Amino acid sequence: MDWSVAPGTRIARLPRPLQVPAVLLREILPHRRPWTYDADGLATVHHSPFLEDEAFARSYDRMAADWFRDEVVDVRWRMWLLTRWARYARAVPGAYAEFGTYRGGCARMILATAELDPGRRFHLFDTYAGIPEARLTPAEREARFAGRLADTSAGDVRELLSPWDPVPNVVAGDVFDTFPATETGPIAFAHIDLNAAAPTEHVLVHVLERLAPGGAIVFDDYGWAGYEDQRARIDAVVAGRPEELIALPTGQAVLLRAPAAA
Ligand SMILES: C[S@@+](CC[C@H](N)C(=O)[O-])C[C@H]1O[C@@H](n2cnc3c(N)ncnc32)[C@H](O)[C@@H]1O
Repeated sequence: MDWSVAPGTRIARLPRPLQVPAVLLREILPHRRPWTYDADGLATVHHSPFLEDEAFARSYDRMAADWFRDEVVDVRWRMWLLTRWARYARAVPGAYAEFGTYRGGCARMILATAELDPGRRFHLFDTYAGIPEARLTPAEREARFAGRLADTSAGDVRELLSPWDPVPNVVAGDVFDTFPATETGPIAFAHIDLNAAAPTEHVLVHVLERLAPGGAIVFDDYGWAGYEDQRARIDAVVAGRPEELIALPTGQAVLLRAPAAA
């Protein structure tokens, strides 16, 4: 009998007294599926490689413990894909960038697993004061996006990521002001996780101008319910371009620029 309860699963979210009967049911019901992963909007019976990677598990547990202060989240498939794309891009000359860094959870996972050499810069763009109200779409205003995710600060994130100095470069302010003013050079890897349509569109247009051959862009919440305005803007920017945008079952999407011809 397997009595384990993975963090973030439906059973883990039940009140404690209900968890034991729920696990019992899970184990004895004949139609039970042997999920290797069941969290974050995704259930799969397939090989989930992070289950066998102890270094990843240690980094993930350390990061998750202080990421969202009042809930433990199991986003291991998203983190696995994000960190794999970040590792892939080490073969591409250029800077790394994240747009939407919040408390530095993803940035920390990337730094811990991609092992970027000290000559590489990882630019981390955020207001570090929550989502600005300006330029939100009517639906985003209605859903009260303004001011969300304000429980962070540039100083805290600098401190958190200081073990990887001089690679991280924390850039505080609205991306409409900060990104055009930041000299990144060619970009090898970008993670776009702004949770709002207009800044996502702005950043995507300008990252595409700077994306190096072979470079990758990972979108965090492309397929998520509640972010339809953002998805529509991304699709509009990518439509007619040579790059293919690939939606992933985690809700993420990835866009790759073809490597330069030999
Ligand atoms: C979901 S959070 C990012 C999560 C982050 N990747 C992590 O690892 O936890 C979205 C972030 O986008 C930022 N953001 C949204 N609109 C922005 C804008 N116009 N300029 C700068 N930051 C913005 C918010 O402040 C928020 O911290």
